[in-house]
Amino acid sequence: MANEQCLVIIKPDGMAKGLAGDVVRELSTTDLKMVGSKVAQVTKELAEEHYSHLKDKEFFNELIKYIMGHFHHVGSVLALVYEGENATAKIRNICGATHPEKAEPTTIRGKFGRVHSQTGVFENVIHASENAKEAEREIKLWFKPYELIHNIYPIKRRKEEMETYSWK
Ligand code: TYD
Repeated sequence: MANEQCLVIIKPDGMAKGLAGDVVRELSTTDLKMVGSKVAQVTKELAEEHYSHLKDKEFFNELIKYIMGHFHHVGSVLALVYEGENATAKIRNICGATHPEKAEPTTIRGKFGRVHSQTGVFENVIHASENAKEAEREIKLWFKPYELIHNIYPIKRRKEEMETYSWK
């Protein structure tokens, strides 16, 4: 049994349907620990990098619009990092199959997902990393080390000079 991390994203359809709470409650039935959480705006660059392995698929452009929230008029998603033994398998079990109609009815995608009749996109509410290696790639893309409660991957120190904001 391996200690792993898993990136979870409540996608724009999940946010628009008010499902963030349901998803977090489902995930809390596991023995996994939440080690990171943030509301994030999905830029085109982030979306394309996140789904770079699917760039040759015919649904890629629609998928990018979907994850950016263009179909649901929401500007943000909820990104979460979970950690624990076999985190990716446990979470993907709770998610259900990619195609909402093939997902078991008791899973998140089975309960709340749909295939959009016009775009053909699988609006399946939740993303979960496929395995530990993918999780590492995705978590490093979505989170800075200091946004997680501990250093789940090795870090390096570097000096960065930049203008920043503070509260007035
Ligand atoms: P994929 O990485 O294959 O599945 P999963 O999210 O289960 O790891 O696909 C990424 C997303 O792309 C998927 O969650 C929904 C969308 N998608 C479609 O819209 N149509 C498709 O035919 C496939 C395979 C995926």
